[in-house]
Amino acid sequence: DRPPLARTPPMGWNSWNAVGCGVNQQLITDTVDAFVAKGLKGAGYEYVTIDDCWSLKQRDADGRLVADPGKFPNGMAWLADYAHAKGLKLGIYGDAGTSTCAGYPGSLGHETTDAQTFADWGIDYLKYDNCNNQGLPAQDRYRAMGEAIAATGRPIVYSICEWGANRPWEWGTSVGGQLWRTTGDITDDWDSVKTIIRKNLTLAPYAGPGHWNDPDMLQVGNGGMTDHEYRTHFALWAMMAAPIMIGTDLNSASPQTLELLLNRGLVAVDQDRLGRQAAVVSESGGAYVLAKPLADGSVAVALYNENDYAVTISTTAAAAGLPRAGAYRLSDLFTGEELHSNGVLKAGVPAHGVTVYRVAPAGPGAPAPATPARSFGLT
Ligand code: GLA
Repeated sequence: DRPPLARTPPMGWNSWNAVGCGVNQQLITDTVDAFVAKGLKGAGYEYVTIDDCWSLKQRDADGRLVADPGKFPNGMAWLADYAHAKGLKLGIYGDAGTSTCAGYPGSLGHETTDAQTFADWGIDYLKYDNCNNQGLPAQDRYRAMGEAIAATGRPIVYSICEWGANRPWEWGTSVGGQLWRTTGDITDDWDSVKTIIRKNLTLAPYAGPGHWNDPDMLQVGNGGMTDHEYRTHFALWAMMAAPIMIGTDLNSASPQTLELLLNRGLVAVDQDRLGRQAAVVSESGGAYVLAKPLADGSVAVALYNENDYAVTISTTAAAAGLPRAGAYRLSDLFTGEELHSNGVLKAGVPAHGVTVYRVAPAGPGAPAPATPARSFGLT
């Protein structure tokens, strides 16, 4: 029996948004080292994944994929050992077609060989793309690789990168996947993030432990968005229980980028063991209230403003699904502030911004807030 995989959304890093086809051994070992040195491993980031462009354009005489020795001189098994020795895991990329999106060999018809190659190397995670698929049914192609992975006996997280075209949320689990892309590719701009959020929010019922909606990898830190927009991007991914795959070069990441990626409160919301994706409590003119129930009985409430202007957004603890109580404790997950409320949850939210509160009833016997509380939401 395989151990349960991805009980919480996978966390890690992927090369694509950071360097595109510019993958190489040094980048991967540097990223593994940065996970340890910069506290990312300690915060729960685990998978370091090599995206497209890692292989030679030809298979070997036995039909196996070959890592490009110019880019990966020590080979993939060595690289997997390197990650494992630091307590991390190595991911790789393949394609359910005749060639990958960037034109390297695809695995269609080679699923058994390629899954075994990945297992032999010690790979822990496979992102499996959908380019050049010859119009063959997606479920069949993704099932072939899911079965081939299972047959190796190695626990390999199976990330279905099908772009949401054939509703993979309806069949991803049945073909062995733990996550599936729900949208087209993310780009480093606000419109892309806004559009992806709208779509992914509709799919909340399909997410849960071991089966996650994947709104694509993070663009945080890549320069095309404002600080507010990157904070919203990260916070919404946490609210949506999305996989958190960092997509920026960690060797040059700014302190602000690292601080955001290391926001423990938001990471805890993403990784909460209940595994619920936030539901939309209300939406009016681009002002959203989202609620994500958490295992300890508290609720993460996001007041999210997709508009190009600031708005005030408010809701109530009851609307967010909290039990009735005379008072509530709120932690603002960006400022760390501890607040009290009579049940009104409200904030002025800047353009493209979000406020996230972790809310719990403040009954007798409830733990006192960590910092002096101030009155809030009594208007
Ligand atoms: C597709 C995927 C991306 C990335 C590229 C690589 O576009 O959706 O995430 O893997 O291919 O070529």
